[in-house]
Amino acid sequence: MEKTFVAIKPDGVKRGLIGEIIKRFEQKSYKIVAMKMINVTDETASKHYEEHYGKPFYPSLIKFITSGPIVAMAIEGNNVIKGVRHIVGATNPDEGDVGTIRADFSSYATTNLVHASDSPESASRELNLYFKEEEYCPNYKIMSEFVLEDLN
Ligand code: PPS
Repeated sequence: MEKTFVAIKPDGVKRGLIGEIIKRFEQKSYKIVAMKMINVTDETASKHYEEHYGKPFYPSLIKFITSGPIVAMAIEGNNVIKGVRHIVGATNPDEGDVGTIRADFSSYATTNLVHASDSPESASRELNLYFKEEEYCPNYKIMSEFVLEDLN
């Protein structure tokens, strides 16, 4: 089963949107297999966003992600990398569809509430950056797994 890395950024935490954001992944029958609230260090931030090093917005990106706690998650599901990106919406909330998290709750590309991996390679790299093997809790079943089992 595919896994992706998702982070509720400091604006999402400070605005009290943790529950609202997680709800959108749970209602899609995706399974949270690891989750923690952490303060991102400068070192982790620079590894996370290394592909953007040198871009004009890089300093503000690092400043923002280290400005308060984030909620880091590993989420598992069928085609979850693409599906989560759909739920999160466009980087610039003004260009996103209504019904996506960013379009519904943000007006700025800088403070756009959620980060989600954009490819299998990024997902693997980011999950390894934020989670150790022992932090995963995959040993429970969500309702959609019971529903699928009934068909077998
Ligand atoms: S790029 O250049 O197209 O790859 O960049 P993009 O995918 O649009 O954005 C990469 C991340 O940078 C954030 N971003 C910004 N942060 C601060 N200031 C400005 N102006 C800005 N523009 C983009 C954007 O939210 C992306 O963050 P993540 O966490 O990857 O979603």
